[in-house]
Amino acid sequence: MRAFVKPAPLPPSAPASLAGSSPRAANDVSSAGPTGLARRARSRRIIAVGGGKGGIGKSMVSANLGVALAQAGHKVLLVDADLGGANLHTCLGVGPPESTLSDFLRRGKANLEEVMVSTGVPGLSLIAGAQDSLDAANLKYAQKQKLLRTLLSQTTADYLILDLGAGTSFNTLDFFLIADHGLLVVLPEPTSVENAYRFVKAAFFRKLQQTEARYGIQDLVDGALSTREGGLRTLHDVVDQVRRKAPSDAERLERELAAFRVHLVVNQARTDADEKVGAAMVSAWKKFFGIDMDDLGALRYDDEAWRAVRKRKPVLLERPDSPVAQGLQRIAARLLTLDGPSPESAIP
Ligand SMILES: Nc1ncnc2c1ncn2[C@@H]1O[C@H](COP(=O)(O)OP(=O)(O)O)[C@@H](O)[C@H]1O
Ligand SMILES: [Mg+2]
Repeated sequence: MRAFVKPAPLPPSAPASLAGSSPRAANDVSSAGPTGLARRARSRRIIAVGGGKGGIGKSMVSANLGVALAQAGHKVLLVDADLGGANLHTCLGVGPPESTLSDFLRRGKANLEEVMVSTGVPGLSLIAGAQDSLDAANLKYAQKQKLLRTLLSQTTADYLILDLGAGTSFNTLDFFLIADHGLLVVLPEPTSVENAYRFVKAAFFRKLQQTEARYGIQDLVDGALSTREGGLRTLHDVVDQVRRKAPSDAERLERELAAFRVHLVVNQARTDADEKVGAAMVSAWKKFFGIDMDDLGALRYDDEAWRAVRKRKPVLLERPDSPVAQGLQRIAARLLTLDGPSPESAIP
């Protein structure tokens, strides 16, 4: 097992208070469904693609998963939610966008049709990212909720794929947590693995804070998180504390937190050992923090991947037989498996 996947001790650096935010109540559609804050009927899924740093392939993965899911017969809406460095349109060969997410959020274009562009791939549409830096605006939680609510209500898409910015800003974390499936892209390098842990930790804190707001157990969670000695410790430690002090909340909390499930995608694997880094991270995180993650699989480092970007074409269309394209298809197939078969009663 490679040493660098073992997490370093974590300082208890919980994000600032969530004052003013109001996470939406869980929509209890399916107990067997996936794990986002917003569980909903099978036919509508939000996939968020995040990662600790830039340049690791988040947009490449988002664009090509969009293509793969569309090719599998699903309607897909890609949303460039990289509020500081939007470029998903370029990965898809779409020219500079006339309307963007920014128009939707700021200039009152509430009609999705006005900001949605076609990508040339049947079944795959795009909302291009804001060209001004929305990140600086630090979107309110309510704006993010409104955005996703409107996207869900106005589109017939089966899948929304959110391509997130790098890092752990609240904007990024909130979109990641609201999604049904949070995909975390990581490179098989110590620095990237470290950033991935930082991302998961920040998302976990953010989720805990949202959960605590709902259950009114703020002091318990704060106490569990702020213990310097040992830092966060494990998920089970937090639940144990709650169980001792508020047994009735513990079970619900446990269910909520067990649903915190990040899906890893290792990108740019160059060796067979690199391909196993995802599995090693899964067991390390489980051992040290008691949190389950899934390894969705690895993508090979492949010259075709960067060549396709230079041609402004998804590699899945440009070089469908390349190792990276085949890896992307496998990951798309695994994602579809997570959701299970589509019921007849799917929302139109
Ligand atoms: N599997 C891969 N093999 C080779 N190059 C890759 C691979 N994945 C991504 N790249 C390169 O990395 C660059 C950055 O990818 P991108 O998706 O834009 O990153 P991010 O969205 O995380 O900032 C791409 O333009 C491409 O050149
Ligand atoms: Mg990107």
